[in-house]
Amino acid sequence: MKFFVDTADVKDIRELNELGLLDGVTTNPSLIMKAGRDIKEVTKEICDIVDGPVSAEVTATEFTAMMKEADILSKIADNICIKVPLTFDGLRACKAITSDGRKVNVTLCFAATQALLAAKAGATFISPFIGRIDDMGVDGMELISEIRTIYDNYDFKTEILAASVRTVNHVKQAALIGADVATVPPATLRALVKHPLTDKGLDAFLADWAKTGQKIG
Ligand code: G3P
Repeated sequence: MKFFVDTADVKDIRELNELGLLDGVTTNPSLIMKAGRDIKEVTKEICDIVDGPVSAEVTATEFTAMMKEADILSKIADNICIKVPLTFDGLRACKAITSDGRKVNVTLCFAATQALLAAKAGATFISPFIGRIDDMGVDGMELISEIRTIYDNYDFKTEILAASVRTVNHVKQAALIGADVATVPPATLRALVKHPLTDKGLDAFLADWAKTGQKIG
């Protein structure tokens, strides 16, 4: 499973990338707003840090305007992945952008039938929003499972990118189902390493080691 980090915070991206944990980055207009940076400037900086795909989202809602924005965003770096919303204009843009070899992430997916359309439009990634479905009192993970089945039935190559991930359990469930990628906020990504028994076990090993009076090397 690939890990993308869902943020436009360059400091977090740099730190997580140094750990060797990052396969890509996803941003969206809300994350750009949160970072308080110019979209082109911050996206360029992110693309220079991470080798994998960096999703940058168009904000136009009409096909021609989307294509213009996609062209501008594509020029930022070779590893840009254009993010488009799951609308008919977005799907049309997805088809056009992927036709010339560029990557597209189709975002704001809340139904398996939407994911089917995105695959037919040649999407590189489909982003089902688990957490926001959970917020409505429905199990968001069910959607990942449905999309996995549909894509496998027809051998679609579109990668399932579990988005709106909020918890460590979301990551685990998405991995069990077979999502190709999880885009995870920095704090949740860091929480993946934590287990109280790991900390307790390490403390005990270090205490016993100190009693030996030895040093390695
Ligand atoms: O990148 C989109 C997505 O991950 C949004 O997450 O927490 O705002 O629903 P959230």
